[in-house]
Amino acid sequence: MWLERLCWRRRFFRCFAVFVLLFMVWMFISFMLTFNDEDFPEDVVYDIFIDETRDDHPHIPLDQEILEEAARKKAEKRYGSVKDIDPTDPIIMWWTEFTLEPGKAKSCKDKRCFFTNNRAFKNHKNLRAFMFYGTDFSSKDLPLPRQKHHEWGLLHEESPKNNYLLCHEETLTLFNHTSTFRRESDFPITTQHLHSLKWLESDLYTKTISQKNRYQQQDGLAPVMYVQSDCDPPSDRDSFVKLLMKHVKVDSYGTCLHNKHLAHPIESPLEGMAHRDFYELISRYKFALSMENAVCKDYITEKFWRPLMVGTVPIAFGSPAIHDFFPNNSSVISILNFTSVEDLASKINELNERDSDYDKLRTWKYTGVTNADLLKILKEREWTPDDEQTWTWGNINFVDAFECHVCEQVHKNLEAEARGNSQASKSANLHHYGCPIPLKFDGSGKYGQFNERNSWSTLYQNQKIVAESLKECVALGLSYCGDYIAKGNKRHRDF
Ligand SMILES: *[C@@H]1O[C@H](CO)[C@@H](O)[C@H](O)[C@H]1NC(C)=O
Ligand SMILES: *[C@@H]1O[C@H](CO)[C@@H](O)[C@H](O)[C@H]1NC(C)=O
Ligand SMILES: *[C@@H]1O[C@H](CO)[C@@H](O)[C@H](O)[C@H]1NC(C)=O
Ligand SMILES: *[C@@H]1O[C@H](CO)[C@@H](O)[C@H](O)[C@H]1NC(C)=O
Repeated sequence: MWLERLCWRRRFFRCFAVFVLLFMVWMFISFMLTFNDEDFPEDVVYDIFIDETRDDHPHIPLDQEILEEAARKKAEKRYGSVKDIDPTDPIIMWWTEFTLEPGKAKSCKDKRCFFTNNRAFKNHKNLRAFMFYGTDFSSKDLPLPRQKHHEWGLLHEESPKNNYLLCHEETLTLFNHTSTFRRESDFPITTQHLHSLKWLESDLYTKTISQKNRYQQQDGLAPVMYVQSDCDPPSDRDSFVKLLMKHVKVDSYGTCLHNKHLAHPIESPLEGMAHRDFYELISRYKFALSMENAVCKDYITEKFWRPLMVGTVPIAFGSPAIHDFFPNNSSVISILNFTSVEDLASKINELNERDSDYDKLRTWKYTGVTNADLLKILKEREWTPDDEQTWTWGNINFVDAFECHVCEQVHKNLEAEARGNSQASKSANLHHYGCPIPLKFDGSGKYGQFNERNSWSTLYQNQKIVAESLKECVALGLSYCGDYIAKGNKRHRDF
């Protein structure tokens, strides 16, 4: 082989040169393969790629061109012809591809709108609203410059963990219509993970107190269970559970603080666990830690409803107003109600010993939900959670329902315009989402400590700066905000 000959016949220099060359080619190829903007967190991108030369062409920034080209190609391939649109329907476009809807007219009560994911409609004269799915909302990819008649809708049912940009008022005021977990949003979906009243009150899995005691004595179950595989989230829940474990036995099945394997008959891995088996497992415990990944008013997930459904008492942490959603005043233990982890632990131990006190927390399971506000919310909601468990024909999921909400608002504004008076401008504010800065638990188990080294709170603060620049940029009518925000970041750092 030529390489062998080259290197073994004392042609050391040539051999060395070939290796250097090969190494450089390898470096270049691997650099090209990994070099992709999307892989970098936003701030890193700004540090490295503030490209001053772009200022010469402020109207056609590079990223924007690429994005539009990509959208065009996608549109051509996937969506085909767009001829059959009714010229009178207002167009509502999902700017972040979310519904995968190429284009379809939809009736909402007596109004009609044309919904599409296809960005080719961006400059269509009928385009009235852009919809955004919160997780995918990015300051670097927006339908700009914003026209006066462009209404923006935000759907975000997730915690801020996915996008801290939306925690800030500067971002939220860009939207006219919101659907989030907050009760203050225009189309609230706070109970998105609560399937139905019947489901919540069901006694399908509920165990009696003597059954629960038997699981502890015979099977060695702890009084409390914890299942979490998303470790160290913004709510800092694992720190609290770690403290609690010093005082109370906790069975932890997930990867976070794992100390217990799933036993027969529930052997399958957690992620793939059929609901039935999982419900059965929770129902054997007296308490289940129900801690959200972020602390936000009204952010409530299945972690809270699941134990209630199976007759287990949740130990809840997440929304500071969670008590508004208790089935009954005494049905849940709220971590915020205790001044220290020791206090909570002695309460748990006490309830674990006293059967009748424990069962008082479950009286509602037999007599029904008594919280009038919760009953009202469930009665009045016009949609059902998008979940196969409750899927029956005739149900509308909340995505469809929010689309119709925006469609109706768009028509209202169109009618006002036709009458010659412009509709009063309406935009969202901090209360439509607005989660506070993530904090930490202190050594006594009290939530509320600001920690300099908390990467979540740093992210929160960085996104505040992005939000401020974004607001300015949109107001200036620029067609792309990436560069503007990068400059703002840089300015900020120079101070
Ligand atoms: C019970 O709930 C109501 C509202 O549902 C509240 O006003 C009241 O303070 C609660 N009582 C107790 C003892 O927690
Ligand atoms: C909170 O604490 C008060 C007083 O200790 C108690 O009456 C109430 O039931 C507790 N509420 C919850 C949700 O634990
Ligand atoms: C909670 O349930 C108990 C037992 O059913 C009931 O006596 C009490 O009035 C309920 N609390 C509220 C606030 O409705
Ligand atoms: C929508 O929100 C924007 C930004 O806050 C505002 O300028 C505009 O007037 C609003 N439009 C309507 C129809 O409310």
